Amino acid sequence: MANKRRAKITALGRYVPPRVVTNHDLEKMVETNHNWIVERTGIHERHWVEKGTPSSELAVKAIDDLLKRRGIEADEIELIVVATVTPDMFFPSTACVIQNKIRATRAWGFDISAACSSFLYALTTGAQFIESGQHKKVLVVGSDVMTSILNPEDRTTLILFGDGAGAVLLEPCEEGEEDYGILDYHHEIDGSGGEHLFMPGGGSLNPPSHETVDKKMHYVHQNGQAVFKFAVRKMEELSTNMLAKNNLTGDDIGCFIAHQANLRIIDATAKKAGLAPEKVIKNIHKYGNTTAATIPLAIGDAIEDGKLKKGDLVLFAAVGAGFTSGCVLARWAY
Ligand code: UT7
Repeated sequence: MANKRRAKITALGRYVPPRVVTNHDLEKMVETNHNWIVERTGIHERHWVEKGTPSSELAVKAIDDLLKRRGIEADEIELIVVATVTPDMFFPSTACVIQNKIRATRAWGFDISAACSSFLYALTTGAQFIESGQHKKVLVVGSDVMTSILNPEDRTTLILFGDGAGAVLLEPCEEGEEDYGILDYHHEIDGSGGEHLFMPGGGSLNPPSHETVDKKMHYVHQNGQAVFKFAVRKMEELSTNMLAKNNLTGDDIGCFIAHQANLRIIDATAKKAGLAPEKVIKNIHKYGNTTAATIPLAIGDAIEDGKLKKGDLVLFAAVGAGFTSGCVLARWAY
């Protein structure tokens, strides 16, 4: 077994499709209005794919961006972990599709399904393969085409989501970087929350049929208030526990990157964890909720805005359908 090393993020790539859909555009599709959407969610606009664009296509563009920034070729990747709730198809996995498209000839890989928490699940899963010494280059990808599972007539969900992808590269920390990389994580599931956010049709429980389509079972179904209450409580709990477990306070954290589902959830968590507003990364206004892509997209904004620098402690948090949840503490390494 090779030497054990912590896993650090060494590069990031992002992609959102060019088509911007504003709240005013949505006013023409369903009974809603810009002010309601902004007040309740913080979203002003989101990016949507042209119909028929699969998650793998967004992912490949984000990975191309990453490979250029890191200056490596795809055949150097050893493992591809894909976080998505909108795979191109049930099988083969989107990891297989991506591996073939980017010609990552030496890589194996698999998909992780944990909805809005899936990027953090994928990140900590990928990190295990670095820490064990088995791999030196692990690609963690979050990609979702939420518009492929949104009911165009349901104003309660249509306004929330956007399409996008992000990818990070995990590599082992170097000698002298013992304090860098992914320092701690905690994940949970609470399956009793499954009834509040789900897509009932298309799986083995309700295989696709005319009936499942007529009943619109192939779309996202959400009890927004129940998810909201759980998300606020759980994100606050996980974040404050992670700080306490590591003998930290909000003042020690340089950057807080939470899943972007609702501005009110992010603000409530930051307040409870004692995080100053300038440390809290928010990009929901321009992307909406892109499910597995929100965290890598937000990492990119944090770097671009000079809010995430080498040596900063960064706290990630997410809650999603399942219910799934997670929190990751890292020291930024580049
Ligand atoms: O990513 C992980 C999972 N998702 C989340 O974290 C989402 C969590 N939930 C939420 O973010 C919020 O619950 C929503 C943004 C989805 C909804 O906000 P809310 O403050 O919980 O609103 P509500 O569902 O209680 O609805 C309030 C009112 C209702 O009308 P009445 O019954 O009071 O007359 C809704 O019918 O707002 C109405 N409404 C809308 N009005 C205009 C619902 N959707 C819309 C809309 N435009 N798009």
